[in-house]
Amino acid sequence: MSALMPRHLVSIDDLDRDGIERVLDRAETFAEVSGREIKKVPALRGRTVVNLFYESSTRTLSSFELAAKRLSADVVSVRSAGSSVDKGESLKDTVRTLSAYDPAAIVIRSPHAGAAQLVARWTDAAVVNAGDGKHEHPTQALLDVFTLRRRFGSLDDLRIWIVGDVAHSRVARSDILAFARMGAAVTVCGPPTLIPRGIETLGCESSATLDGIEEADVVYVLRMQQERMTQAFVPSLREYADVYQIGPTRLSSGQVVMHPGPVNRGVELASATIDSDRALISEQVKAGVWVRMAVLYEMLVGSPVLAAVA
Ligand code: NCD
Repeated sequence: MSALMPRHLVSIDDLDRDGIERVLDRAETFAEVSGREIKKVPALRGRTVVNLFYESSTRTLSSFELAAKRLSADVVSVRSAGSSVDKGESLKDTVRTLSAYDPAAIVIRSPHAGAAQLVARWTDAAVVNAGDGKHEHPTQALLDVFTLRRRFGSLDDLRIWIVGDVAHSRVARSDILAFARMGAAVTVCGPPTLIPRGIETLGCESSATLDGIEEADVVYVLRMQQERMTQAFVPSLREYADVYQIGPTRLSSGQVVMHPGPVNRGVELASATIDSDRALISEQVKAGVWVRMAVLYEMLVGSPVLAAVA
């Protein structure tokens, strides 16, 4: 068993199956800590974590902040959504500036694919990709795997359909890789304009219609990412919703529904689905803190898994 943690977490490809399981096992110990009245452990006391977010975020930033704080790190969050900071020199200068504080980790979200990889070249800190353009969002995939492992025990032979705007989704890319690596059978589904050609090479099948979705154990729904669309990929959101929206009547018994958030209520998911008990969306959000604690812990502290964390 290798289960070596990478120095940087840019892609799910940086982890083998044992590595993923190691993070999930560690996350379980932090889930237990989070049930205590005092939710903090001293693991990163005296160390600094910088969150550098060039794109809007609610869940990912708040959970990375909370994760680092619960590990007792000093946390600095820099948000520059909407600023003119761009790729290249200016990102490099920002990273150099923040690196002067000698952070143990830099967590970076950027609208540019490849940004996390670049940051890793410019700093001595461990770099965690919190979403780079349409490329990857590995910690989202880890929390999704964690949520599914808790629900089903294992992902082996689980049938997972990922429905919606696959083309603009870094979550889809990281999830396909992670779910397949954990033994699941993955199908992506959406309008042909939103399914990238060659997506099957990541380890999935593709479908242009929802026919056959009743065979899925898990329906993972994606947001229509209009902010990344440079042209009209669907005639209108209403017409998209007419064909692809996951409403209660689409679902067969026993199926669970996931979504990375934020949800466009009434577009990709019907309100009744979001609010039903088959939606695992709140469980995903909760898992976000535990899994991000585990990622920071394993990258910065490491040690045999399941050792006492307090
Ligand atoms: C996702 C993202 O930002 O890539 N959200 C998230 O991190 N929870 C998905 C999305 O924005 O649709």
